[in-house]
Amino acid sequence: MDAREMKIKAAEAALVHVEYGMRLGIGTGSTAEEFVRVLAEKVAAGFKVEGVPTSERTARLCVELGVPLKSLDELPQLDLTIDGADEVDADLRLIKGGGGALLREKIVAAASTRMIVIADESKLVQTLGAFALPIEVNPFGLVSTRIAIERTASRLGLSGELTLRQSGDGDFTTDGGHHIIDASFGRIPDAEALSRELNSIPGVVEHGLFINMAALAIIAGPAGARTLQANR
Ligand code: A5P
Repeated sequence: MDAREMKIKAAEAALVHVEYGMRLGIGTGSTAEEFVRVLAEKVAAGFKVEGVPTSERTARLCVELGVPLKSLDELPQLDLTIDGADEVDADLRLIKGGGGALLREKIVAAASTRMIVIADESKLVQTLGAFALPIEVNPFGLVSTRIAIERTASRLGLSGELTLRQSGDGDFTTDGGHHIIDASFGRIPDAEALSRELNSIPGVVEHGLFINMAALAIIAGPAGARTLQANR
């Protein structure tokens, strides 16, 4: 089974949790896109849901495939969000934002009663941090913010390259008009402390550590999909 097949397996397993009429947060990334595809098939067969997309990219795919969309202001309280992740640990702490949508993903997940993460087994880790942590920053005062992140990391015993994410023609810009610094810490032993400290830096808009947000992870491997439950 290749990586795409595993993502489809996870997406199909997540679809079982979607009930008729639900208000649904819809994630971003290649795994979330497989979920949009299986959901769209069900919608085409008469299943009713209302989706709130976590990015312009996801919105475009939903429109193309006929998944009905609303804005988060129209549907400010959601029943369920289904989204991918870049890393998942055994306590269902996540690193997200590889696709640059972490701010809307976190706002949508926080507005949901429940979040389910879907991933292939390559995303499962013992300790978060091998995937560079995306930190969304305001373009104003970027250099100062970067220094503040470096100092914060150093206080917590973390070090590593901080890279301003690029896209084809310059600095990557998120749907919200911000930039992303990818922090290659290697290991983040205390994700809660890092999350708290990053949140206290004014130029940091949001970061990709999702802690106490996912209730369930559906992890697909060659033998099929299995679920991990949050212990809370
Ligand atoms: C988007 O910003 C991310 O949070 C994605 O959910 C994450 O990068 C997973 O993407 P893939 O499913 O493409 O690996």
